[in-house]
Amino acid sequence: MRFFKIVQFSFFTFFLIFALSGLARAGEFYLSRELMESLKLEESDFLPFDENQAKLGQLLFYDPILSGNRNISCGTCHHHDLHSADGLSLGLGQGGIGIGENRTVPSDNQTIRRRMPRNSQALFNVGAREITQMFNDGRVSTDDYFEKGFNTPAEEFLPEGLETLLAAQSLFPLIGEVEMMGNLEENEISPAVNERIDYGWPLLIDRIRGIPDYESLFINAFDDVVSFKDIDITHVGNALGAFMGSEWRSFDSPFDQYLNGDLDALNAEELAGMEIFFGKGNCSSCHSGKLFADQRFHALAIPPLGPGRTRKFDLHVRDVGRLGESDRWEDSYRFRTPSLRNVSLTAPYGHNGAYATLEGIIRHHLNPIESLENWDSSQVILPTFEKAERLDFIIHEDRLEMARFKNFIDIEPLELSEHEIQQLIAFLHALTGEESIKGRLGRPNEVPSGLVVD
Ligand code: HEC
Ligand code: HEC
Repeated sequence: MRFFKIVQFSFFTFFLIFALSGLARAGEFYLSRELMESLKLEESDFLPFDENQAKLGQLLFYDPILSGNRNISCGTCHHHDLHSADGLSLGLGQGGIGIGENRTVPSDNQTIRRRMPRNSQALFNVGAREITQMFNDGRVSTDDYFEKGFNTPAEEFLPEGLETLLAAQSLFPLIGEVEMMGNLEENEISPAVNERIDYGWPLLIDRIRGIPDYESLFINAFDDVVSFKDIDITHVGNALGAFMGSEWRSFDSPFDQYLNGDLDALNAEELAGMEIFFGKGNCSSCHSGKLFADQRFHALAIPPLGPGRTRKFDLHVRDVGRLGESDRWEDSYRFRTPSLRNVSLTAPYGHNGAYATLEGIIRHHLNPIESLENWDSSQVILPTFEKAERLDFIIHEDRLEMARFKNFIDIEPLELSEHEIQQLIAFLHALTGEESIKGRLGRPNEVPSGLVVD
C-alpha cells in the first residue's frame, strides 16, 4: 500500500513537472502578452506616403545629378544590393568609384580628402512614426520649438514645406562636402553653401529644371507643381522621404510570425536567445520597442577609427557623438541606439563599423573596456586610400583622449556563456525579414539625367 503510494506520488510529481515544462514552452518563455503586443510592428506604425512621390524619389535617390560633381548618389552608400547600406566600415564619398567592397579611390584623385566619418546607416523601417531623430547623433529631429517643425543644422534657414523628418534629413547629405557636395573650387554648389547653408539647394533645382523627363514626374507627384518653375528643394526632400519611408519596411521576420501567434516560428536556440535578450542580457533596456531601439543615446566605447566627426574647434581627430549636437557634457561619446531589425544583414557594426560580426559587437557590450583594449583592427573594411591611412587608428595612440573616452560608458559588464552568446546571435538572425531584402521599388536601371546609375 505504502509502496503504491510512493509510486503514485512520484508518478504525480513527474507528471506535474512534465506538464509545467510543457507550459513553459508553450507559454512564450517570459514574454508577457502585453510585451508581445507592444512589439508588433505593422503597416499602421508607418507614416503614409504618396506613390507618385515615392516613384520620383526612387529616381532622385539614384541620380548623381544631385551631387556637386555629378559623381555620387544616395544609392551609392545606401544600395539595394547591399541592404540599403554599403557594407563598409567607413565609406568613400564623392569622387570614389564603384560600390561596397569594390569602391576605390581613382588613381588621379584630386577631390577625395577624407573618408566618411561614420558607417553608412541602413534604411530599414526609417518611415516608422516613432522615429523622431535621425543620424547617429540625432542632429536632425522633429521639434515643435522650431517654426518649421524640425531642429536641423540649417536652423532658421531650413525651407518651409518639408512634410516628414525623412524629408528634412534628406537635404543634408546633399550639402556634405565629403559626402555628395565636393570641395569649394570644384562646382557651383559648394561656394554657395559656404556663403549660407541654404544657398546650394536652389542651384541643384536649376539642374533638375533643365531635364524634361523630371517635369512631368514632379507635376504628377505634387499638386502645387504646375510647371518647372514651381519645383523647389522641398519637393525633392518630400519625394526622397516618400521613397525611403516606403522602400525597406521590414516586419515579416520569424520573430514577427511568432508575435502574430505562430509559436513554432522560432526554434529552441532562437527562443533561448530571446529569453536572454529580454531577460538576463538586459538588451531590451536599450533595444526596446517595435524597432528594438529606444531612440536615445548611450556610450559604449566602441573602438574609435577614421577621421571622426570633429567639431570646428576639436584639436584631435575624434567623434564625441551626441555631445556634438546637444552640447551637454554628459552626452560625450553617446550614439543613438540602432534598430536591430534586419541586423544580420548590416555588418559591419557600430557607428563606425568597428566590428565585422554580430559576435564581436555583442562581446563588446558584455565587457567594453576589455574588448576595446583587445580590439583587432584588421577586421575593419575600408577602401584602400593611402592619404587617409595615417588618421585611421590615430586616436588609439592619444592616451589622454582614450582615458576620457573610457570614462564615459553607460553599460554594465555582464557575463554570458559561449552558448548563451550563440543563442543571442540566433535570436538576432530571427529578426531578419524577407520582403525588405530586395526593397519595394528597387534600384532603377536608368535615371532622367542620363548619368550612370551605381
Ligand atoms: C558617402 C556615403 C553616403 C551618401 C552619398 C549618402 N549617405 Fe545617408 N548616411 C551615410 C552615413 C555615413 C550616415 C550616418 C551619418 C551620421 O550618423 O552622422 C547616413 C545616414 C543616413 C540616414 C539616417 C538614418 C537613421 O536611421 O538615422 C538617412 C535617412 C540617409 N542617410 C539618407 C540618405 C539620402 C536621402 C542620401 C542622398 C540625398 C544619402 N543618405 C546619401 C552615408 C551616405
Ligand atoms: C545601454 C544601452 C544598450 C544595451 C543594454 C545594449 N545595447 Fe546594443 N547598442 C547600444 C548602442 C548605443 C549601440 C550603438 C553604439 C555605437 O555605435 O557607438 C548598440 C549597438 C548594438 C549592435 C550593433 C547594431 C548595428 O547596426 O551596428 C548590436 C547587434 C547590439 N547592440 C546588440 C545588443 C545585444 C544583443 C544586447 C544585449 C546583450 C545589447 N545590444 C545591449 C545600446 C545598448
